[in-house]
Amino acid sequence: MSGHPTYVPKSAAAKWLESRLPILGLAHSSFVVFPNPRNLNYWWTFGGILAFMLVAQIATGVVLVMHYTPQSSLAFASVEHIMRDVNYGWLFRYAHANGASMFFLALYIHMFRGLYYGSYKAPREVLWILGCIIFVMAVATAFMGYVLPWGQMSFWGATVITSLFSAIPFVGDQITIWLWGGYAVDNATLNRFFSLHYLLPFMILGVVILHIWALHVPGSNNPAGIEPQSEKDTLPFHPYFTIKDGFAVVCFMIFYFWFVFYVPNYLGDADNYIEANPLQTPVHIVPEWYYLPFYAILRSIPSKLGGTALMFAAVLIPAFLPWLDTSKVKSAAYRPLYKIFFWLFVACVLGLGYCGSKPPEGIYVVASRLLAIYYFLHFLVILPLLGQYEKTRPLPASIFESVLGERGKHLAAGAKPLQPGE
Ligand code: HEM
Repeated sequence: MSGHPTYVPKSAAAKWLESRLPILGLAHSSFVVFPNPRNLNYWWTFGGILAFMLVAQIATGVVLVMHYTPQSSLAFASVEHIMRDVNYGWLFRYAHANGASMFFLALYIHMFRGLYYGSYKAPREVLWILGCIIFVMAVATAFMGYVLPWGQMSFWGATVITSLFSAIPFVGDQITIWLWGGYAVDNATLNRFFSLHYLLPFMILGVVILHIWALHVPGSNNPAGIEPQSEKDTLPFHPYFTIKDGFAVVCFMIFYFWFVFYVPNYLGDADNYIEANPLQTPVHIVPEWYYLPFYAILRSIPSKLGGTALMFAAVLIPAFLPWLDTSKVKSAAYRPLYKIFFWLFVACVLGLGYCGSKPPEGIYVVASRLLAIYYFLHFLVILPLLGQYEKTRPLPASIFESVLGERGKHLAAGAKPLQPGE
């Protein structure tokens, strides 16, 4: 399914451009006539929501940079200047800070949708791996962005996470000094994090283009997890999915701007309104909510090297899913056991997130350890075993039939369409 080369330029200017750079035809075949499975549900709108959020982050970030100063003695004050003096500076800053949370929320929903419907399976492995690369890049981008306001949590968060590299045997200390650009998190660190925080979103944009290219070769997976076989199984992207995605983006924006206007600091940390002080460690160093499950895994192991290795493994292991999940059936709708283990895995990640937000003592340490073990068991033991032993439900003959049931069977056979209630 690679789209239809059906574009006919209407104006002379379009004809002129098309014969030199066929970009309008590309857009037409990719986003107008592109055939999408007709049974996509609202979980399939999160890719569009993510594309919107990425553009929103870049646009608000570019404006913030016009007033921000990446210098350790001025950074904190320049952010307060944005909040108080710059026209609508508060709006741009709150939109950007909450936008990061919204981006990760959409990213996690998008990824869990992929897990539920088996979207990482052949022929979409490269699409999935490109997604995993985007995820790692987004984690790094948000981490470096959080350092820029140079508050207490910026400074100490950066110190804790960069110090993890010192756990690497033999060369760890050198690597950490190299990352810092000195012997502690300081002005050189702030400068390089600023530079990379500006660069990375554009690199993410590049990988997103590859991601969508890789999507358009096999086309979208769908809730039934079977590939389209005829034109009856699909609908053109425009107007059906442009309208649906547009509606979802508007709903998501209402949710996003509710945070921006009513509780703009709810997802942040009060300590970050205190300027960075290298001589005073905060009582609890807690990362932003979207890192908490990984933070819990990091702290679940009493060794720094072990915890760091396990945390990186937890981030990277989803990339191997196409080979760890050996079941031929994609969608959880036809995999009764996998459906249960999917929800257990969701509960495990939420539990890890909760433990990550608590001090590393008592019951929270025990719970983090058990949940961290379960996290890896899910990928390394449960999925391969399910692939071998699970009894899956019979798949529908076509997407068309799965949507319309008995009526679909009649239509597919070319019979007169049944009337509702027949
Ligand atoms: C900036 C971040 C991202 C953007 C803008 C983005 C964009 C999109 C878009 C527009 C689609 C098609 C619509 C849809 O299926 O929702 C899509 C599909 C997909 N994405 Fe992403 N994506 C991003 C990150 C990720 C990540 C982190 C992963 C996984 C680790 C991922 C995995 C997938 C998969 C497997 C599909 C195909 C889904 C299917 O057809 O069932 N994406 N993406």
